[in-house]
Amino acid sequence: MKEKELPYLPERLLPFFADRARDLPWRVNRTPYAVLVSEIMLQQTRVDTVINYFNRFMTELPEVRDLAEAPEEKLLHLWEGLGYYRRVRNLQAAAKMIMSDFGGKFPADETELRKLPGVGDYTAGAIASIAFGLPAPAVDGNVLRVLSRITCSSWDSDSAAAALRKQYPAERCSDFTESLMELGATVCVPNGAPHCGTCPVKDLCAASAGGWQFWPKKPDKKPRKREDLSVFLLRFHDRIACRKRPDTGLLAGLWELPNLPAPAQPDPRWGNVIETRKGKHIFTHVEWHMTVYTIEAAAEFPEFVWTVPGELPLPTAFRKFLG
Ligand code: ADE
Repeated sequence: MKEKELPYLPERLLPFFADRARDLPWRVNRTPYAVLVSEIMLQQTRVDTVINYFNRFMTELPEVRDLAEAPEEKLLHLWEGLGYYRRVRNLQAAAKMIMSDFGGKFPADETELRKLPGVGDYTAGAIASIAFGLPAPAVDGNVLRVLSRITCSSWDSDSAAAALRKQYPAERCSDFTESLMELGATVCVPNGAPHCGTCPVKDLCAASAGGWQFWPKKPDKKPRKREDLSVFLLRFHDRIACRKRPDTGLLAGLWELPNLPAPAQPDPRWGNVIETRKGKHIFTHVEWHMTVYTIEAAAEFPEFVWTVPGELPLPTAFRKFLG
């Protein structure tokens, strides 16, 4: 994509950020570890939801070494309900690499940071700028939306990063990255009308006179694949039957309630069906339509792991039926 003109933003965004930044826990102590954990959590999850998860994570695993050494079940518990579990596996792999290849210290260098599992251009830029104060842009969907509205034109990540890199103000790199995020999150919002009346770059913005709805251009979306499942909630006294999912594919390696493609029926040897419910869970590319059979199990059948609800981390797709 051809390099485009972008109005100079720091002199507007830095005062805006100083005045109107939200108090967020990862802004208190901007260590590279805190930035890594928060940015990975924020990749697919809303700020309101992330706050509690982040605080709990940092209390339980305060240093990168603690994360590198944490048992998998503890990690899955800390992540339970956040979804996209690959993120936490990568996060631990990154922590292990910091310990083994970088002597326990994050490298203050975008290229080196990008070698960490799960760390792409965006996260490397966020750590380099927010934690190390380097002039490294962190371009995500929020930043692309802001730039595309300001200029009424399309930007890809590389062209946006190139244009922003030239604007990074020495000594204020950390705040400049966060000010762009803040503008996208609180003013130039993703859903519904942007709050142009309170925008610090209104007079520089091509879309402020109208037309924000058209930017950024939306790519054609493929419809989600529908899968119909029969899910079996086997209860034996206060325990339920769980099992591990395969190591590849959706929710790889996580716990699940026993299930089969619909319209499979419960095995009559398991016991009586006491309730049948319908449920739905939406993933990014797949949606599950579930028929959930609650069964009063006749015994603790050995093909399953029997557990008190809450003991094992269970993805939300299943956990919501435990009630
Ligand atoms: N969204 C993504 N990263 C963020 C951050 N560091 N602060 C607020 N919102 C964000």
